[in-house]
Amino acid sequence: MLSNRPAFLARRMEFVTALRAHPAASLTGTVRVPGDKSVSHRSLMLAGLCIGETRISGLLEGEDVLATAAAMRAMGADIKKEGDVWVVNGVGVGGLRTPETVIDMGNAGTGVRLMMGVVATHPIVCTFTGDASLSRRPMERVMGPLRAFGTKFTSRDGGLLPITVEGATDPVPVTATMTVASAQVKSAVLLAGLNTPGVTTVIEPVPTRDHTENMLRHFGADVSVEARDEGGTIIKLTGQPEFKPADIQVPADISSAAFPMVAGLIVPGGRVRIEAVGLNPLRAGLIETLQEMGADLTIENARIEGGEPVGDIFVAHSSLVGIDVPPERAPSMIDEYPVLAVAAACASGTTRMTGVGELRVKESDRLAATVEGLQASGVTVRFGEDWMEVDGVSGKPKGGADIAVDLDHRIAMAFLVLGLAAENPVTIDDAAAIATSFPGFTDLMNGLGAEITEVAT
Ligand code: S3P
Repeated sequence: MLSNRPAFLARRMEFVTALRAHPAASLTGTVRVPGDKSVSHRSLMLAGLCIGETRISGLLEGEDVLATAAAMRAMGADIKKEGDVWVVNGVGVGGLRTPETVIDMGNAGTGVRLMMGVVATHPIVCTFTGDASLSRRPMERVMGPLRAFGTKFTSRDGGLLPITVEGATDPVPVTATMTVASAQVKSAVLLAGLNTPGVTTVIEPVPTRDHTENMLRHFGADVSVEARDEGGTIIKLTGQPEFKPADIQVPADISSAAFPMVAGLIVPGGRVRIEAVGLNPLRAGLIETLQEMGADLTIENARIEGGEPVGDIFVAHSSLVGIDVPPERAPSMIDEYPVLAVAAACASGTTRMTGVGELRVKESDRLAATVEGLQASGVTVRFGEDWMEVDGVSGKPKGGADIAVDLDHRIAMAFLVLGLAAENPVTIDDAAAIATSFPGFTDLMNGLGAEITEVAT
């Protein structure tokens, strides 16, 4: 079967390069990490649904986002790059067309789940596929609520990709109560609500990142968010809005900033500033957590850019202490637990993380991968279905581990950070995984004084 598999994904199959992080003497300097992955996906999708031109600055040019760009192009949006700016001319809400080929979303969970929502209420048919990691991730959580609009799905057994979406021709508005704390599921429903007459309602018992709501408003949609007496929020979107193009400034990704941030805290002599990082409160749980652990971490130059709070993050090497990370904080830092566990390994005392079962269904089983990687680095860890406890070594972990990243970019980067602060180097087996979200990671870290080198395999 033909697919739109972009050339970069095909290339990725050809080479496997390992990377080794050597213990660093110090880390100093000022860096800017790439654009926010969540905001980047949404900006291409929503701009692709406006008639007229949207200019996007700071877009993350990671593989996941490029897969979304390719998908939107295959369904009719005009997306190109002019200098540093991405220019999108959309098709209008309801204007997507059936793509000529299967749509390969690579490693992009956000990309595929949100695109399933977009397609769900267009009268088109689209088959999505992905890499080995994406093909084992649960999709029923998205298909379930989308069926209520009148959308039909055919999937592999177990609700897995490849999935064919047959969009509803006469979608009906839906009230969906979230059963998992997932911004991807919420966003899929809201994006389906965009081309549905009437009001689509999402009830979120536990609030998750609200970039979709913010960006829908940015393009002119009527979205209201109310607090519920019993906790959480009710989000209402009036469908088929007059959607108008509006330029977007993508902030730097706090989930990428997390790696130089933690590295600066745990490498002796670390002094690192990360500029213009998105600080949306529904994403910033790691900052609060590190500060509770005693991190010398300050926000400088706090401001609003493109409707999102942004600031420069300064960190200096700190003697961290273990804490209990409350379960209700998990959605605001769900992607940061692997690198938080690395920080916890260097702290004194025990750090207990609870309510983190969602880690099991990320690009890899991140709970298992974090536990195994820490144990291989000489750190004592206890864990259960949705919790882990790390006994910090109060300084440098032994390190020396060989980590199989299993197509998981954040596991790759978290353990390279551990290698910088350990007694012995840490090696990850697949550098290519990092390009999912953080192209230029190795150069950026080496620019701060790290020594991350390629290793012949
Ligand atoms: C994302 C939501 C989170 C997060 C992912 C990006 C988003 O996933 O892990 O990296 O952009 O909506 P879940 O919604 O499944 O928790």
